[in-house]
Amino acid sequence: MGTAGDSNRRLCESSNPVDVQSLFLTYTLDVASEFFFGHCVGGLDKLVQQCDGASAEANADIVENDITGEELTKAFAEAQEVLAKRIKMGTPWALFELRGNKMTQPVETVKKFIRPLVDKAYKRQSTRPAANAIRPRGSLLDHLINSLDSREAIEDELINILVAARDTTASALTFCIYCMTLYPDVMEQLRAEVRKQPGGHVRSNSDLKDLRYMHCFISEVLRLYPPVPMNIRRSATEVVLKGSPPLYMPAHTSIILATLLMQRSKAVWGEDAEEFKPERWQTGEGYDQFKNGGSIPFSTGPRTCLGQNFALMQIKYVLARLLKALDNSSDAGGKATESRTIVPVKSGTSAGAPPPVAWSFLKGRGREEQAWVMSDLTLQVKGGLWIRILATPDTTHTNDTI
Ligand code: HEM
Repeated sequence: MGTAGDSNRRLCESSNPVDVQSLFLTYTLDVASEFFFGHCVGGLDKLVQQCDGASAEANADIVENDITGEELTKAFAEAQEVLAKRIKMGTPWALFELRGNKMTQPVETVKKFIRPLVDKAYKRQSTRPAANAIRPRGSLLDHLINSLDSREAIEDELINILVAARDTTASALTFCIYCMTLYPDVMEQLRAEVRKQPGGHVRSNSDLKDLRYMHCFISEVLRLYPPVPMNIRRSATEVVLKGSPPLYMPAHTSIILATLLMQRSKAVWGEDAEEFKPERWQTGEGYDQFKNGGSIPFSTGPRTCLGQNFALMQIKYVLARLLKALDNSSDAGGKATESRTIVPVKSGTSAGAPPPVAWSFLKGRGREEQAWVMSDLTLQVKGGLWIRILATPDTTHTNDTI
């Protein structure tokens, strides 16, 4: 995760507007490719080099790929859009795609991205030491090659895990930054907690566990802005769901779980359900509701998210590094500069889509949104989440910030 630290530092050195949503998608693709495929695609490195005006240097560890990170992101977005439409239409969706399967093109792009990585892993396997020799720990891809015979099945598994891990974590990070910009006092408390770490550093998982306020903050962000805002279950046989009153579900019936609505429901969370209050997780109230199933951003039960701990560790690490970098900025000559803060860009060409005017007539949270929060499958900010890093206090750019 060294690259994340480096690009955090670069981000903090500049006061230009940046779309953090797109940066996080690049970052989570880097992490996923390294962790799952055994080779980082180096998207953040390429961005850092572009910022420095240098042409991308060949890096022995980076796999050359015909599909860029942006093309992959676009393909994922298209596939999600098609899938979301199919879910809304229900079974007759196929009638609307008689002229051709709309998923074919984006899936082909994703497969083109994955193939060179799989090729490289097969090569690695063919040159590996004998079976009885001590082998370094392999990536998920290495394990899949060892346990599955079909290359198609391996590629499908990889797409599955990439979808599960990448956009979700990027979404969670984006909404963490969004909430920091909405609640600067909360951001200050997070910074204070990171500063309390010896030397202001987080070096290990146990350092991350010490960041208790940050854990509450992330729990609250995931409650109000769950990266997977809805889910579906389908009954294999007829079933009676426990509850009062119990619910009868015939066989082969789909049920939609509106995770976002439940996690904002006053019936579940009380009158202040729509308020952003990390403290509710400190007092235990949050955890009580969580235990009762009132907040299930990672789902629950036998099909709960397998990457929950990994995701939380990653989110905490990135936020801690970012907050630390805000304190430790330096100018082009390496001289330490004043502390900085994150502010949203609200207007101008480098701003995301403002919330629809109709939202100002809504009750509750919808009216307070400062960005167009939308979802195909994962929650995102329409047009990106644009922010600036500015010295504190600063009035230079206040005309286009909230
Ligand atoms: C904040 C980030 C994340 C969120 C909010 C999230 C959320 C979820 C949810 C709601 C499900 C259940 C889907 C369903 O019911 O069909 C799920 C499943 C899954 N997630 Fe995550 N996830 C996150 C990150 C990750 C990461 C980083 C990984 C991998 C390292 C991962 C791996 C998986 C896998 C493998 C499943 C499928 C489990 C199964 O079907 O048995 N997730 N995730």
